[in-house]
Amino acid sequence: MIGLLWEGRGMRGHCFSFMLTVLFLGTLLTTFIWYMSNDSHVEPHRLPAPKKTEKRAPSVSSDSCNDCSHVEPHRLPAPKKTEKRAPSVSSDSCNDCSHVEPDKLPPQKKTEEKAPSVSSDNCKGCSKVINKVLEHYSQTWTKQEENYLNFRSQLHTRCRGSDRAILTQANAPVGSKIVYDGEKKVREVTPELFRTFVKESPFSNKTWDTCAVVGNGGILTNSNCGNTIDSTQFVIRCNLPPLENEFKAHVGSKTDIVTANPSSYMKKFGGLLGPRRPFADSLQIYGNSMMLFPAFSFLDSTPSCLRALYSIEDFEIPIQPVLLNPGYVQSLTALWRSKGLKEIRLSTGLVVTSLALEICTNVHLYGFWPFSNHPHGFQPLTHHYYDDQKANHLHVMPSEFQLLLQLHSQGVLRLHLGQCGEQ
Ligand code: CDP
Repeated sequence: MIGLLWEGRGMRGHCFSFMLTVLFLGTLLTTFIWYMSNDSHVEPHRLPAPKKTEKRAPSVSSDSCNDCSHVEPHRLPAPKKTEKRAPSVSSDSCNDCSHVEPDKLPPQKKTEEKAPSVSSDNCKGCSKVINKVLEHYSQTWTKQEENYLNFRSQLHTRCRGSDRAILTQANAPVGSKIVYDGEKKVREVTPELFRTFVKESPFSNKTWDTCAVVGNGGILTNSNCGNTIDSTQFVIRCNLPPLENEFKAHVGSKTDIVTANPSSYMKKFGGLLGPRRPFADSLQIYGNSMMLFPAFSFLDSTPSCLRALYSIEDFEIPIQPVLLNPGYVQSLTALWRSKGLKEIRLSTGLVVTSLALEICTNVHLYGFWPFSNHPHGFQPLTHHYYDDQKANHLHVMPSEFQLLLQLHSQGVLRLHLGQCGEQ
């Protein structure tokens, strides 16, 4: 019995100590679990930091990060931001902007705003052409006297513009033959025609110190070059260009020679077959300049130019009409061809630039830019500063321009392509 009792007590004791052990282990386990679930004690360096950063990066957007000041710069997804901006500066609008000075590049926001105006239509590969052209355009230009004298001497020997550019009673006597430069036609100088010629060349034995030759290119728009041009001693303009109102500040008004191709007035004034007063009045802006008529380019040009000349006489406009000598134009064409120009006909601008190089010591060109985008910014340009009537296809203006650029880089003449400053 006692043995049974002892046995019974011994079993209960085992049971009790077993339960105590279980309780103890349970407490230990609970404490451990609680301890593991609370990570406040974990030291930062033990976190898998790179993984955490990688996961966070995509979520740093303008939406999810109103104040990202706490984010270290290198953790911002900078490359992604750049990639997002890239499409707004399209490859079409500026294939290679390397020539554009950094300070002339508009700030990022501005570029994004302006981008649509310089579209692929406006500038199809123009930056390539323009950059190539500008490789030869030196902003810090200096005259190279030897090159200038050499070129002037070639012009003087081969073309003699100072005596031959204009038909005179001295170089085209009655009975002499005038050979047209635009078609194979000849006209004999009659007494009536002879009477329209000036007595002698206005350029004989004369030189002007500084001359401006003003082409009609749209590059003059908003150029502010008016005062600079007007301060030049002798100003040559092309094809009866408008000089008043909004144009004056950019192109000036002083005129010593202005050319007058029939195309620049015949259509506008009804072929001068009706009243001619409106035409005569329109010439007042050119003051007492010389008006140069290419009367012997094509057979049709002769009556058109003579009608204009008679109008000037009849209305006693103080302009001096003079007739371009087609023989001079032909010799100029030969000279420029020998320099690589594959040209059917020279442009008016090139003819008067050649004359200026013979009669002026310093020649400045404005408004010569036969491309449809501006060299500094690629904004679209109209063909003329006053209208968008496209070039005559007989001229190869970009190739003429290449030669003028060559003369610029050789210090023979100075080509102005930029703004003339606030004036
Ligand atoms: O009738 P033409 O094309 O010769 O001349 P115009 O259009 O009245 O312009 C006068 C001159 O300016 C031209 O002969 C060119 O030499 C020059 N020009 C230019 O270089 N770039 C332009 N976009 C327009 C004219």
